[in-house]
This record gives sequence, structure tokens and C-alpha cells, in this order.
Amino acid sequence: MTKKLISLTGLLCLALTAVAQTLSVNTPRTTLLLSAPQGEKAKIIYYGARLSGTDLDMAARVETAQDAYPAYGMNCPVEAALAVQHSDGNCSLDLVVEQSAQREEADCVVTTIALKDKVYPLQVSLIYKAWKDADVIEAWSEITHQEKKAVRLQQFASAYLPVRRGEVWVSHLSGSWANEGNLTQEPLNPGMLVIKNKDGVRNSHTDHAEIMLSLDGKPQENSGRTIGAALCYGGNYKLRIETHDDEYHHLFAGINEENSAYLLAKGETFVTPALALTYSSEGLSGSSRNFHRWARQHKLANGTKLRKILLNSWEGVYFDINQEGMEQMMADIASMGGELFVMDDGWFGDKYPRKNDHSSLGDWVVDQRKLPLGIQGLIDAADRNRIKFGIWIEPEMANTTSELFEKHPDWVIKAPGRDLVLGRGGTQVVLDLSNPDVQDFIFNLVDELMTKYPAIDYIKWDANMSVMNHGSQYLPADKQSHLYIAYHRGFEQVCQRIRAKYPELTIQACASGGGRANYGILPYFDEFWVSDNTDALQRVYMQWGTSYFFPAIAMASHISAAPNHQTSRVVPIKYRIDVAMSGRLGMEIQPKNMTEQEKELCRKAIAQYKQIRPIVQQGDIYRLLSPYDKQGAASLMYVTPEKDRAVFYWWKTEQFVNQHLSRIPMAGLNPEKLYRVTELNSIDTKPLPFEGLSFSGAYLMANGLELPYYHNVRQHYDYASRVLLLEEVK
Ligand code: DGJ
Repeated sequence: MTKKLISLTGLLCLALTAVAQTLSVNTPRTTLLLSAPQGEKAKIIYYGARLSGTDLDMAARVETAQDAYPAYGMNCPVEAALAVQHSDGNCSLDLVVEQSAQREEADCVVTTIALKDKVYPLQVSLIYKAWKDADVIEAWSEITHQEKKAVRLQQFASAYLPVRRGEVWVSHLSGSWANEGNLTQEPLNPGMLVIKNKDGVRNSHTDHAEIMLSLDGKPQENSGRTIGAALCYGGNYKLRIETHDDEYHHLFAGINEENSAYLLAKGETFVTPALALTYSSEGLSGSSRNFHRWARQHKLANGTKLRKILLNSWEGVYFDINQEGMEQMMADIASMGGELFVMDDGWFGDKYPRKNDHSSLGDWVVDQRKLPLGIQGLIDAADRNRIKFGIWIEPEMANTTSELFEKHPDWVIKAPGRDLVLGRGGTQVVLDLSNPDVQDFIFNLVDELMTKYPAIDYIKWDANMSVMNHGSQYLPADKQSHLYIAYHRGFEQVCQRIRAKYPELTIQACASGGGRANYGILPYFDEFWVSDNTDALQRVYMQWGTSYFFPAIAMASHISAAPNHQTSRVVPIKYRIDVAMSGRLGMEIQPKNMTEQEKELCRKAIAQYKQIRPIVQQGDIYRLLSPYDKQGAASLMYVTPEKDRAVFYWWKTEQFVNQHLSRIPMAGLNPEKLYRVTELNSIDTKPLPFEGLSFSGAYLMANGLELPYYHNVRQHYDYASRVLLLEEVK
């Protein structure tokens, strides 16, 4: 939030354009048209495909404009973006345009409309940041005032967008632990759709703070006008879509104001998180491609650098960490071609050794009984195996059974005058990140690890608890309602300090699995753990949904054991590999329990993933057949921006004999180009009929290829899957 802070005073110092009636906010292929006549309401005239020349003028003349930031008080029955109580008790606002400005920066153009209340000294800046190389506009608001006493902010959306009614459908994600990223697609009907989270710490186990709107009826992946909206916030959020008796659906998105009323002091500026908007006429996949490109270029930490292939110790040994075991896992992943080993939970605690989840969070010292050679011993072992080393921490948490809690019981989130509500292991508590001492403690934890062991290449940053009891032992009584917001400001400050000092360090956001897949935290994290559920079949669904908003490079996807530890399902290794290879490939398994044949397949897959890694991690996604359509299979592909290489994935999702499955036309290729097809991870005894042959992009996009439903090896009768590499023949 603070990163984008442009103070209102700063704004007034800008070279302002003459107060323009209409402001056109453009990305390469989209336009948001605003009107900002001085002394009148700011309005949104249009959002969609890029307009120029006459079309711009005509749109400004004929389109029905909507208030750009509806404020509560002078039209009470409709939903509002902003609702305040002034210091004298008045609950109304009447905002009009004071001035507007457009400022060009290296890679974006920032449009600001300054609004002021007609009566009270309260100002709101509406900011629209349009990226020059990505079809994304970020919109947010900044609120300040000069009233005598604090103003109480009761609703404070980042932005509002009107969407013309018609057959508009919304796609959004929901879920829970081990079942994240479930896709729901439904028509927008009269009434209010509310998508929200109140966890306090993690925000994507439940609903997600991102949606897509398909404007032309039932959502299509590769056709139709689509608007995407993603709130860039790591904390509690609320997205509202109200449909009442007019011609528009009204979308509001911002911090969830429930139990979070904010007392804004005189002269203070409240900066809301950005709402990232995109528009595509190429369907849902088109909007995803826009989000993904923007994420890699501008949002995700190190978004343009390829990720390493890793083995994580969690499902292999859980808390049973020791030097010998870690060394064995390192040697195994190195022998399969992996590049990084990550030691998960269980390595720390002195007075209270971390044997299970009942103790030790906060005591970030090596348990010498388990690891007599310390972290350096592990780094040395990684060096010997010519791989990198990474480590797990859960910095925002403590256990009541820990030296940290004994020393600083006042550092934990707790309702004043009440008993603690405890989480995981019956002893977990959340540290109060509104407290600067806690912020320093967390920063120092990472800083000390990295200073002592600069060879650490990767940190898995976990977070396994919600705010269970509302209360800060740091915030004063009149600011207890700031808890959630202050927590995330504190979190962001710590992240900013870490990133300023360690920009190259790879950091994974894990939160009991996929609890932190959001654009608020991604500037500080290189990737997120999609789910604790590593079952390949269920991952097809979860990764499909998650790919709507997040690029493959950010989606950690690991090959794990069979039977799967979460579902007990036995899925063949080939299928597990083929699913994991569609994201950021890794392993989450005890290699010493794998057969030689399984290891050999993984070795081959890792070598092949290295070839396709740039296509998967930097390419454009085209989703082809949705698992949610229940047609027995799912399919997607990634294509390089040059359209010279592509990877096609196909996974059967149902296993019935004599089923008839659709043939899948490909997408995103150059119709004129010729592509040679090679199957990856092949296990069949005979090559596919089209192996090594070349087809035009036009043919592949019109017809696809006939895929056998089964592998011709007996144990793989079920769970057929295919990965095809397409390379341009020059
Ligand atoms: C929850 C994470 O999601 C898991 O991957 C693992 O790191 C455990 N925590 C460790 O306690």
C-alpha cells in the first residue's frame, strides 16, 4: 500500500494539465474513459477495447457515465465506495472534482482526479495507473482531511467499476485448506454478490480477491469480451457486485471494512490497495494472459527469472529432520537433476525442540540435537551435491510453548482482558505485526539468517493461523479497530525491508498451502504454494482455477508420493509428473521410497522440464478444455510470445472404459508456421502416430491431434495424460 503513496500535497505540486473534461486512460489494447469537469462529479464513461480518434469523442458524447467513486450520504439507497463519519458526527459526503492531472512515467501513465467535499475539508484522490506494456490499469483512492478531529472511515473501497448489464457471468474462486482455487461460474443476477475474506492473516483459502466478468454470456476461454479484476491486497477484502434497477452491475472492491473502521487523523492520508483491472476480447484466457504478463513484468518478485527445480522435505520426512536424512534427500534430488533442496518445518528450537506442531515457533535457532553441523553443515552438503539450499520459517507466529512467548507475551495478538485463543497444535499464536518491535524481530530473523548464511537461496515463508481473537496489545484503545489493517501494513513494511536488502532471494509464500495467493503479497514473493493437497487429479482443478489470475511461474507444483498423503489416491507417477510440469516443477516426496523406474522417469522429466521451462514459466497460457466442464479430460497449453515453441498438456480426469472424449483444437499458435510435435515424458512402448511429424498452426488450431485414451502399458490404463512439445520448423 505505502509503496504507491503519492501524498495529496505532492499531487498538488504536480504540473497539472488544464482541468480536462475527459481523461483517456490507455494501455496498448484498452481504454478507460473518465470525465472530470471541475466542480462536478467525476465519472466513468467507458471501459473496454482501446478507443481512439472519433470513437473517443463519440463515446464521451453518448455513453451513460456513472459516478467514478460513489460516496455515501446524498444518494443513500445505492451502494457506496466511501462512507465516513465526520468529526462533528455528520455521515454524509458530496464529492466533486477539484482538479485532474496525467503524469507520464517510464513504464506507465498515472492519471489523478482530485475530489473534495463541497462542505467539509475532506479530499479524495482517484488514481489510475495505466501500464504501457501490459493491458492492466491499477485503480485506487487516497483519502485525507483537515477536519478538527479524526474522521471515521466506515467504508473505503479502492475503486468502483460499472459494468453494462446483459448476459454477464462472473468467474471466481473459492475453497478451503487442501481444496483451494475452486472455480465457480455463475450469471450475475439482481441482488448483491459479496466475495470476501476475514481471516486476518491469509486471504485465499476461502474466496479469492480476484474475479473475471464475461460480458457475452456463458464464459468462454478463448473468445468473448472479458473484464478481470484483482485486488492487490494481502489482508481482509471485500468485493461487492450490486445489481439493482438500473442498466449496470456495480463492482466495488477494497479492504473489508468489517470490524476495521479507521480513525483518520487530521492530515493523515489513507491509501487504499490497488484494484488491477484488465480487459480482453479473447475470453478468459485472454484476461489471464494480460494478468500473467503484467505479473511477470511488474508485480511478482523476480517475475522474469526462471525458477529452480526443487525437492521440499515436508511430505518426505515431516518433522523428522536430521543431518543424515537431509543429506540423503539432497543427494537424491541432485542425482535426478534437481537444482535446490528445501528443508521444511522441524529444524529449530533449543529449550523447546520442534518435534511436532505443539511448540517452538519463534525460537529460530537450530536444534543441534537434530543438526549437529548446523545450517552451515547443510549448506556444505548442498555444495557437495552442487545444488542450492533453502529453509522453512513461519515468522509471523509463535507457540505459547516457546522461549519467545515466555520473553514477550505482549507481542501476540490477543483480545484485551480475555484468554488467548490458540491455533495449530493447541498452542499457536499470531504475532502482532502492528508492533514495530515485532516487525524488527521478523526482519532480523531473515536478516540474521541471510547474513550468517548468505548461501541460502530460498526461503519458504509459512503462515498457519488466522487472527482468532481481535485485539492488539500494542495499539491504543481507540485504534483497536485498526488491527487488521495495521497488521498488513506491518507485514508489508517487513517485506519491503527484506526485499530492499535481499532482492534476489527466492521466497515462497505458503500459508497452510494456498492461503496467500494474492497480488498484495506477490511483489515480495517469487511464488506461492498452491495447496497442501498434492494429489495430481485434484491439482488439475486447483491449478486450473488459480491460473485464471496467476502465472505458472508463481504456482509451485510438486510431484508427491502414491498413495497421496492427503487423498490416499494412487495416481501413476507419469500423471503426477505431467500435472506438476504445468507449473513451477518441484518434488515433495521421500526419494528413497521411490523405485528405480520412478526415479528414472523423474530424471527424464526434470531434464525435459529444463527445455520447456521458459515456455511454461514465461509463455502465454491458452486454456482449452476445462476440468470443470466434466468432459472427462482437461487441457491447456503455453505458447512463447514469438509463437515458435509451445507445450500442450492433456490429462484425463475421469476413468471409464469405452468413454468417448473430445478431440482438442489447440490455440495461440501462428497459423502460418509449421510445428514439429514431440511427446515428452513418454512411457508407451510405441511412439504416438504423429511423433516427430510437423503440422501447420492452422491445422493444429482447427483440429488438434487424435490422442490415444490410454497408454499401452498395463499399469497406466487409468490416468492417461500427454505432454507435447511443439517446435517451429524453420
Ligand atoms: C503448512 C504448509 O503448507 C506445509 O507445506 C508445511 O510447510 C507445513 N505447514 C509445515 O508445518
